[in-house]
Amino acid sequence: MKDEIIPKLSVIPSRRQFISNTLHNAGIIFCAVSLSNLLQSCETNETPSGNSSNGIQIDFPLNTSGLEELSKIGGAAYLNVPNQNNNKDILIIRLTETTFLAVTSICSHQGCSVQPPDTDNSNIYCACHGAEFSPQSGNVVKQPTSGNATSLASFPVKYNSITNSITITF
Ligand code: FES
Repeated sequence: MKDEIIPKLSVIPSRRQFISNTLHNAGIIFCAVSLSNLLQSCETNETPSGNSSNGIQIDFPLNTSGLEELSKIGGAAYLNVPNQNNNKDILIIRLTETTFLAVTSICSHQGCSVQPPDTDNSNIYCACHGAEFSPQSGNVVKQPTSGNATSLASFPVKYNSITNSITITF
């Protein structure tokens, strides 16, 4: 038997749009996970960093509304999956035809939302205090103006070219 969970998606805004409107919720997709997986997720993913791996695997078709940007290399999208990453968005970036990066969208410095690479910045970056993270790994490449950031928690992603979907392991 399968239960449905409802991830919330957001299209990546421009930097100006992001700064003026940091709330980004613009669409809904549906996916299915087993009841046991759903129950397990409620029990095991409780750390603030979202870095605890609970092994939950969820498929996301790339032709779903809100994930259109992931159809092109360099495209990015936010995704919210209930009971995963402490209910905070993850940021997904398509690196190549077959590889993707999925990291928490929550900056490890003081918790602002990070932004994907764009024409102004080739790294994932945080506008709050200037931290930058590798779009290949989520590792810190530039520390904030004060204090320290650590690598963004990441989640393994597999691409299925036959179904044109990604499977994220939380
Ligand atoms: S919260 Fe991201 S750099 Fe400070």
